[in-house]
Amino acid sequence: MWGRIEAGEVSSGLRSKLKQAVRACREGVNRVHLINGNRDDALLAELFSNEGIGTMIFADDYQQIRKATPADVDEMLLMMRRAVEDEQLVERDKNDILDHLDDYIVMEIDGNVVGVGALHVYSAEMAAELACIHVKNDHECQGYGKALITYLENRAKSLKMNQLFVLSTQTAEYFMNRFSYQESNNLEEMPEGRRTKWEQNGRNAKFLVKRI
Ligand SMILES: CC(C)(COP(=O)(O)OP(=O)(O)OC[C@H]1O[C@@H](n2cnc3c(N)ncnc32)[C@H](O)[C@@H]1OP(=O)(O)O)[C@@H](O)C(=O)NCCC(=O)NCCS
Repeated sequence: MWGRIEAGEVSSGLRSKLKQAVRACREGVNRVHLINGNRDDALLAELFSNEGIGTMIFADDYQQIRKATPADVDEMLLMMRRAVEDEQLVERDKNDILDHLDDYIVMEIDGNVVGVGALHVYSAEMAAELACIHVKNDHECQGYGKALITYLENRAKSLKMNQLFVLSTQTAEYFMNRFSYQESNNLEEMPEGRRTKWEQNGRNAKFLVKRI
């Protein structure tokens, strides 16, 4: 689970387990796993899946969003291949990613890249495009998409951008309902450099805008 547990959300029994787990981490243990002993095969399910089934308290880099490195690029391309085939993402060239690698971030779980995203900045217009947001199929619906988008939006805010935009063929509702983007028909709102590319390869994507 990518998130924070608020006080009051946990029972007193669990709270004491969490307290002890935090104590263990403070004293040098990297990871503590709380697993439901009433569940059949709980230990196997915990061991043989990336995210496990229980609750993990960790003091190392188990789950992180970090800048992409050249060593990530082949994996990024591989994981995006299906979304490109399904026309959810625009095809990207390896060299193009490498040339703009500073724009890219990855979500890593236990050393495995499971998600990717990019923020392309148009400084003259004080606008930034959220692009290439992708979470591996078997890791969907665990909040990773939200975590990547929130990270990129915060980066745009810290760069003092005024506007964020996304070009989306199949995920418009996700951005509109969950992140308050609005569809725009005014292409004047799109940075000129991006508009030229859009006119060449628009893919009928919706132009979604958010003021920040
Ligand atoms: C869109 C995507 C990034 C979401 O990643 P994720 O980690 O599953 O997202 P989250 O866990 O933050 O949110 C999951 C929720 O969003 C919903 N959702 C996912 N894709 C959606 C879509 N295309 N339209 C509407 N809702 C969508 C899920 O049903 C789920 O709903 P729930 O919380 O009610 O169960 C992922 O599905 C993906 O990689 N899609 C293919 C690539 C793509 O389309 N990228 C966007 C390019 S603009």
